[in-house]
Amino acid sequence: MTRVMQPIRLLGIAGSLRSASFNRALLRAAVEMAPSGVQITTFDELAALPFYDGDVEAAGDPIPARSFRAAIDSADGVLITTPEYNDGTSAVLKNAIDWASRPPQRTLAGKVVAVMGASVTPSGARGGIESVKRAVRRAGSEVLDEQVAIPSVADAFDADLQLTDPLIRAEVAGLVATLAARARAASEEKLAA
Ligand SMILES: Cc1cc2nc3c(=O)[nH]c(=O)nc-3n(C[C@H](O)[C@H](O)[C@H](O)COP(=O)(O)O)c2cc1C
Repeated sequence: MTRVMQPIRLLGIAGSLRSASFNRALLRAAVEMAPSGVQITTFDELAALPFYDGDVEAAGDPIPARSFRAAIDSADGVLITTPEYNDGTSAVLKNAIDWASRPPQRTLAGKVVAVMGASVTPSGARGGIESVKRAVRRAGSEVLDEQVAIPSVADAFDADLQLTDPLIRAEVAGLVATLAARARAASEEKLAA
């Protein structure tokens, strides 16, 4: 009997809010390059999440926090792009991770996560990437060692924010493929358990 392969669903999250963000453009490039059998949907409402506050949480999760958790729940894996703000990730992204880390759901626990980052300096947003990895690892996610770190990011995009650098395009496509393969294996492991 032939087994029909279900598409792998990835959730893309960009940690910068500005419309001309390189990290948002990087995530768009990943969506466009996703191979057949891999669907990437994006969560674009990070700014709607209130600051994490235990009192707000105790009164019942706000709707944006529920939407964010539901988006993660319905994905097999998560692809995050982060800017670097003062050697860490952005406040909105850290805030979102905090919401999705909380018990009893611990929505990020057990999720396979890959991280990319871009900064305009030669650092390649490595501080941002590391801070995201530390946070999601603490939240119980399985974090891929593989990553894409883009220094001097303005050189990799054209004026229309299309990712034109062929080496970086290949790196992004490679990371998406690795994440999708690991997410597929993890969901099959869960089914078999
Ligand atoms: C508050 C703030 C702090 C920043 N800190 C750093 C930094 O520590 N290292 C770095 O390489 N770039 C830093 N930058 C520059 C960002 O890399 C640059 O703004 C980048 O384009 C942000 O990503 P985006 O294009 O996705 O918005 C900082 C920018 C801001 C606004």
